[in-house]
Amino acid sequence: MTKEKMSQDGAIPLAKPPVVRNALALSHEYVRKVVGSGDLVVDATAGNGHDTAFLAELAGPDGLVLAFDVQEDAIRRTRDRLETLCLLDRCRLFAEGHELFGERLDGIAPGRPLAAVMFNLGYLPGADHALGTKAPTTIAALQQAMARLRPGGLATVALYYGGDSGFEERDAVLRFVESIDVHAFAVQKTEMVNSRSCPPIFLCIEKLSPGKVRPPA
Ligand SMILES: C[S@@+](CC[C@H](N)C(=O)[O-])C[C@H]1O[C@@H](n2cnc3c(N)ncnc32)[C@H](O)[C@@H]1O
Repeated sequence: MTKEKMSQDGAIPLAKPPVVRNALALSHEYVRKVVGSGDLVVDATAGNGHDTAFLAELAGPDGLVLAFDVQEDAIRRTRDRLETLCLLDRCRLFAEGHELFGERLDGIAPGRPLAAVMFNLGYLPGADHALGTKAPTTIAALQQAMARLRPGGLATVALYYGGDSGFEERDAVLRFVESIDVHAFAVQKTEMVNSRSCPPIFLCIEKLSPGKVRPPA
């Protein structure tokens, strides 16, 4: 018998958070490990601004967060969230596609490498599902992220698929990440394999230091 007291329905309350975590939780867990005060980071899919706010907390008042979304409404909601949390001062928001983010970044912080770029793909719940992310622009943005990450920097992807999102973006993004040069990046894929509801796939692309291939663990 464990030390935990049984509740009335006989279930033993969980003392710790679950070890098996979903794609969003894993994205946060990984990004938290590499982003610190003063860093430059990108939220490639701002949506309701949850990830933008998360990145802004990590980057601190001396950091800079660029956030992109094709929907004006999403950018408005993100701005409101950041204002409420007093985090807007360190963020620049763009109502435009993330496929332009390399150009934006080069104009705002030329030569400054990125600590992390977060992608939360698919559509915004409650908004027009047709405005969800699409393979060609997602892959263009991933390439721009990879070119600008510092060694040790991460691009994380929560890859939603199925339903209105279909499978096209998933298949194209998976083909793309499987083709990434193993000498330049370590790429991880994690997914729940016993659910029929298409839970999002987690991808993490870590830029390696030049000349260092990640040894097998
Ligand atoms: C799953 S939602 C993101 C949720 C968000 N991370 C949050 O914290 O609420 C995906 C978002 O990607 C946006 N999107 C679609 N195509 C895009 C593109 N080319 N560039 C940037 N954002 C895009 C959609 O408008 C939508 O808001």
